[in-house]
Parts: sequence; C-alpha cells; structure tokens
Amino acid sequence: MRLLDGKRALVTGVANRWSIATGIARKLHEHGAQVALTYQGDRVRGEVEKLAAELGEGPAVECDVSSDESLQAMCRRLSADFGDLDVLVHSIAYANKEDLAGKVFETSRDGFSLALDVSSYSLIALVQALRDSFRDGASIMAMTYLGATQIVPNYNLMGIAKAALEASVRYLAFDLGERGIRVNAISAGPIKTASARQVGGFSRILDLVPKVAPLHRNVTPEDIGNVAVFLASDLAGAVTADVHFVDAGYHGMGLFVPLDSARGDTSV
Ligand SMILES: NC(=O)c1ccc[n+]([C@@H]2O[C@H](COP(=O)([O-])OP(=O)(O)OC[C@H]3O[C@@H](n4cnc5c(N)ncnc54)[C@H](O)[C@@H]3O)[C@@H](O)[C@H]2O)c1
Repeated sequence: MRLLDGKRALVTGVANRWSIATGIARKLHEHGAQVALTYQGDRVRGEVEKLAAELGEGPAVECDVSSDESLQAMCRRLSADFGDLDVLVHSIAYANKEDLAGKVFETSRDGFSLALDVSSYSLIALVQALRDSFRDGASIMAMTYLGATQIVPNYNLMGIAKAALEASVRYLAFDLGERGIRVNAISAGPIKTASARQVGGFSRILDLVPKVAPLHRNVTPEDIGNVAVFLASDLAGAVTADVHFVDAGYHGMGLFVPLDSARGDTSV
C-alpha cells in the first residue's frame, strides 16, 4: 500500500548514504512521494545528486540554513523546478566537536550560537522561508534525540539545542494549525552517522541500547523513514505538536539492567 501518492516532499540533511535523511527520502519515495533534496556545500553535492537521480523526480538544491540568502535562493529554485510542498523533513544539526564532550559550563558563546542557529533556529528559518510554499494540510517533521529532555553524558550542547528544537516544534504547530499544517519531531535512537560520531563515547551508547531496550536492538534510518511516512501521510491527519520516539523503546526504561537478567531474574 502506498501512502504518499501525489505528495511532494522536501528532505533536508542528506550528506551520505548513512544519513537519517537518506533513509527517510528513500521511504517517502517508496510510498509514492516526489522528493526534492537540499544539501550543504560542494563537499556532499555528488552524493546528494546521485540520490536525487536515483529517486527520479525532484531536484537537489544547495541550502546552507545559516544563510538567509541561501535559504531564499533555495526557495526560488524549488518553486521554479518543483512546486508546492506537502512534506518538509528537517534533518540538520551541527555543533563544534569540543562542545560534544567535557563540561557544559565550558561552552563558549560562539559555540552556543552556532549550534542553536544551525540545529534549532534552522527549523524556524525553513518554515519562514517556505511558508507560502506549504499546501494546507502539509506535514513538517524534525529529528531530535532523548538528550533534549534527559541527561545523556557528552551530548551536552546538542541536548540544549534539541530542547529548543522540540519547543519550536510545539510553537510552530500552534502557529500553523489553522492551515491544517502539522509539525512533529521524531526522536531517533542512536544511529552511526557522521554527525553522531562527533559525540564523545557514541559507540558506547550504540552498544548499550540493544542490552537494555525492550526491543533488544538498535534502530536504522529505515525505521525512522517508516515513521516519517506515517507522519507525512493523511493517516496522521490529527497528529501534531508531539515528539515520537523511534528508539526500540529505550526511552521508556527506568532502570538499566541487561535484558537477560531483567527478564530472567525479577529480583534484579
Ligand atoms: N544519528 C543519530 O544517532 C541521531 C539520533 C537522533 C537524532 N539525530 C538527528 O538527525 C539529524 C540528522 O543527522 P544524522 O545523524 O543523519 O547525521 P548526518 O551527518 O548524516 O546529517 C546531518 C546533516 O546536517 C547538515 N548540516 C549541518 N550544518 C548545516 C547547515 N549549516 N546547512 C544545511 N545543512 C547542514 C549536514 O550537511 C548533514 O547533511 C540531526 O538533526 C541529528 O541531530 C541523529
């Protein structure tokens, strides 16, 4: 069953084949959506154009979300070559590596501004730039992580940026609700991507999840893509202003004991 026939989606944040955005773009396409991509800079252009060609119908457009000129140029190109949007996927984050380890109280003013600008304000900037391009009833979604609301050692400044992103999701959902436009976040479990590898001790987080999560495994960009398809579809027509966890249930655990002992020995 294809859930997105006739819908047009813009997916930001593809850097390479491991990106969460790549998994989402493929799933949206599989379900019948026409997909346009944005990318940041020449470094990733080749990979992104390759994916756009594979997916067929949509352009790959450069867009650096920290530049208003770049956002405007992307919007002009999109309305000339693609048309109005039913779906926007925000899958963008950046912080200096030194702000993803160590002590939060050592964060610099510049580092804070950069991370919050690229990882949080960019959702507002994209919505602002594209507001006349959204069809009524469109679906907007942003990628977040558990570290927005819980302490995840080393996630540090990105946790603060994700908290701002999640709050932005709620306020944008309120603003856009009168047009039937829905705004949600997907809170993905850890996935080995270029960005994730910048977080101190990331591989230890990847090792921990299958040991304690109810589903006993890590998640993949395809798992995230499946939930993105649901949120993009008319099936989610009454779903907005929320954070949807796709993390094999890890966020629900209150006590982290290895699964075998948790299931076999109730005295823990
Ligand atoms: N990988 C994980 O474990 C994980 C978990 C939860 C949430 N997320 C979130 O998922 C999203 C995608 O990250 P990913 O893990 O796929 O890593 P990734 O490195 O593949 O993607 C990050 C993207 O952000 C883009 N980007 C950075 N600065 C930009 C700028 N100024 N303008 C435009 N684009 C810019 C990069 O080009 C890249 O495509 C991020 O928001 C990330 O925080 C990741």
